[in-house]
Amino acid sequence: MEQKWWHSAIGYEIYPKSFKDGNGDGIGDLYGVLEKLDYLADLGINLIWLCPINKSPMVDHGYDVADYEEIDPIFGDKDTLKLLITEAKKRDIKIILDLVVNHSSDQHEWFQKALANPDGPYGDYYIFRKGTATEAPNNWYGIFNGSTWEKVGDDQSDLYYLHIFTKEQPDLNWENQKLREEIYGMIRRWLDFGIAGFRVDAISHVKKNFNYTNQHSERPDGLYNGMAYFNNVTGIVDILQELKSETFAQYDCFTVGEANTPTPAQLSEYAGENGHFSSVFDFFHTPYHVEEDQFRDNPLALVELLKEKIFNLHQNLAKDVFLTNITENHDNARSIDKFIPKNLQNFHSASLLGSVNFFLRGIPFLYQGQEIGMKNYPKKKITEYKDPTTLRQYDEKLLLRESPEEALSYYNRASREHSRTPMQWDSSENAGFSTGIPWFEVNPNKNEIHVEKSLLLAYYKKMIALRKNPDYQDNWIYGDFSPLFSEKEGLISYERRHNGQKICCLFQCRNSKCTIFLKKDGLKVLLSNYETNIIEDATITLRPFEVLILEIV
Ligand code: GLC
Ligand code: CA
Repeated sequence: MEQKWWHSAIGYEIYPKSFKDGNGDGIGDLYGVLEKLDYLADLGINLIWLCPINKSPMVDHGYDVADYEEIDPIFGDKDTLKLLITEAKKRDIKIILDLVVNHSSDQHEWFQKALANPDGPYGDYYIFRKGTATEAPNNWYGIFNGSTWEKVGDDQSDLYYLHIFTKEQPDLNWENQKLREEIYGMIRRWLDFGIAGFRVDAISHVKKNFNYTNQHSERPDGLYNGMAYFNNVTGIVDILQELKSETFAQYDCFTVGEANTPTPAQLSEYAGENGHFSSVFDFFHTPYHVEEDQFRDNPLALVELLKEKIFNLHQNLAKDVFLTNITENHDNARSIDKFIPKNLQNFHSASLLGSVNFFLRGIPFLYQGQEIGMKNYPKKKITEYKDPTTLRQYDEKLLLRESPEEALSYYNRASREHSRTPMQWDSSENAGFSTGIPWFEVNPNKNEIHVEKSLLLAYYKKMIALRKNPDYQDNWIYGDFSPLFSEKEGLISYERRHNGQKICCLFQCRNSKCTIFLKKDGLKVLLSNYETNIIEDATITLRPFEVLILEIV
């Protein structure tokens, strides 16, 4: 396989609004990222994904782009981005941007022109369809719930446009060649500008299947889940291959697609050697939460389920597919609260959680704050949330007859906004995030959890250093994977093997001890989250939430 620079990437996702405010207006920005480059270099990462920084009305915090060519003034300008790229390069860090092209903002000039004249050329940049004055073109509900159709014009109008996210995010019509060419030109201009690639947002949705008649629905609003009609629809391959050949393939860039639950065959199409992208995000673990009914009294069942998912995925993964392995991102609650019962949250469980998929084949990606163990910030009232999706889905839960208490409690554990509270740099008033009033409240736990006093941070640095260690790096990147001790409940363990080198990764994912027997001549401890380990001849005893990475010699 041809080696690429990004095979050795260790990614770090930045949600710019919440990372670091450099100019005191309460909103994180590019100046803040510049200030923290040394922190990131010291952590050891070498690739930054910046969530959207384009001009935007910020209904979805930048995932609603009003101008693809410009940077939103709240974040800075093109000169600041240039400077950031240059300064990052000095520290061996590359920068990728978020590419949000399944939809634009309703404030985008194209959409404004389309609204003014739906029959004109820009009308076909979006997806307008006729229903009746009282009924939308069909009964799909979208990814952020509610009908995917928004009426244009007065009550009598029968014209609607499609949006699978919020109504302020109209879907672009990828069947239109002219639109596609505009997008390709824009992508090439950013690559020429000097960015190293893109994280490609919601890209599995660009093709729609309109071969649909209303489906029967039991829901009070009469809507039906339209996902199958706008996710990985037959024919999407042609669109994504053209996107690649007109843009990414002409550069030595890294691209990672956000593709909703692809099948194993689709993983190869997306991220194999001839795939649409360099890599694809994998979300096998994101639907689960330890406080859900099935796991609350039996957290071990969650460990076993995750183990099965990891093993299945990695045993069946084609050799040329590079996954991007994450524990957290900006669309999910914080991982400690997601996977570790409250009474067991501590340094050992947090460091274990960060390690389990860090040594899998693929590209590890951290999300800001994960390295210091940031946690959820539950609210007293639903109105304290700012995320349009959380608010909308809350209303939906009431519609589906959940009580307000149940619905609030659900979002207090599951809202994606928990991961968007300002980064906790120190214990000062706004956690060192801003000298102004933060746009979003800092988590009250900032005195206990922050960069300056984080033990977890020191562990993450060791872990990253091990992934980058030239003696082992090729094994992490290209080595084979095989499960070990699958039958041991609560233990997730696998072997990585490459050119005769064998590394055994042991993760004791429960609050008790476990003993295993390893046949070996000798071994070398490469990493642990305990200061000493209990290894007697062939017998290894793992303590609660112990991580042990061993080279077998
Ligand atoms: C992706 C983003 C998410 C955003 C959505 C719409 O899933 O990660 O944050 O709201 O797309 O752009
Ligand atoms: Ca700012």
